Amino acid sequence: MRRPEGAEVLIPEDRLQERVAELGGEISGAYAGKDLLVIGVLKGAVFFIADLMRHLEVPCELDFMAVSSYGSSTHSSGVVRILKDLDIPLAGRHVLLVEDIVDSGLTLSYLMRNLQARDPASLEVCALLTKPGSARAGVKISYVGFALPDAYVVGYGLDLDQKYRNLPDISALSGSG
Ligand code: IMP
Ligand code: MG
Repeated sequence: MRRPEGAEVLIPEDRLQERVAELGGEISGAYAGKDLLVIGVLKGAVFFIADLMRHLEVPCELDFMAVSSYGSSTHSSGVVRILKDLDIPLAGRHVLLVEDIVDSGLTLSYLMRNLQARDPASLEVCALLTKPGSARAGVKISYVGFALPDAYVVGYGLDLDQKYRNLPDISALSGSG
């Protein structure tokens, strides 16, 4: 699979996998003695979640949500529509929401309000990547893989017009920063 023209690798595959394993260790320690419900947001988080879960040492279940955010393809508006809801009820569960990337944080902020209303025992966020503006939405991200500069990135689940998700590393499009 070829990278987009002029794209530059920001996080090589070995560094990515090393960090995912570290996150898995951290999360396993934090949830020791508990059962975890891992929720992924389709489609970008699929690759990350599949690797992360293989490093979790606590009993865990997996569920997915699909959302679409209104706005342009590169800027979300924070108005989110649920296209596929969860199959598993959250009441009384320890829930970890796993995101590929948090940019403005608007999508995450909507999801957190929506999930919190379902009465989980706890609700935390793990994001593989964050961008500089992600703190503005005021959502605490307990586990962060990498804090990125402001660039548009593809690979390892992240797309450009639905392509490049299958690249094994993360690269930045040239001139996107
Ligand atoms: P936010 O609401 O601005 O935080 O947007 C988050 C969503 O936009 C992510 O879950 C991604 O689907 C998408 N997104 C934001 N930045 C990038 C990027 O650099 N590459 C690919 N998708 C991105
Ligand atoms: Mg997403």
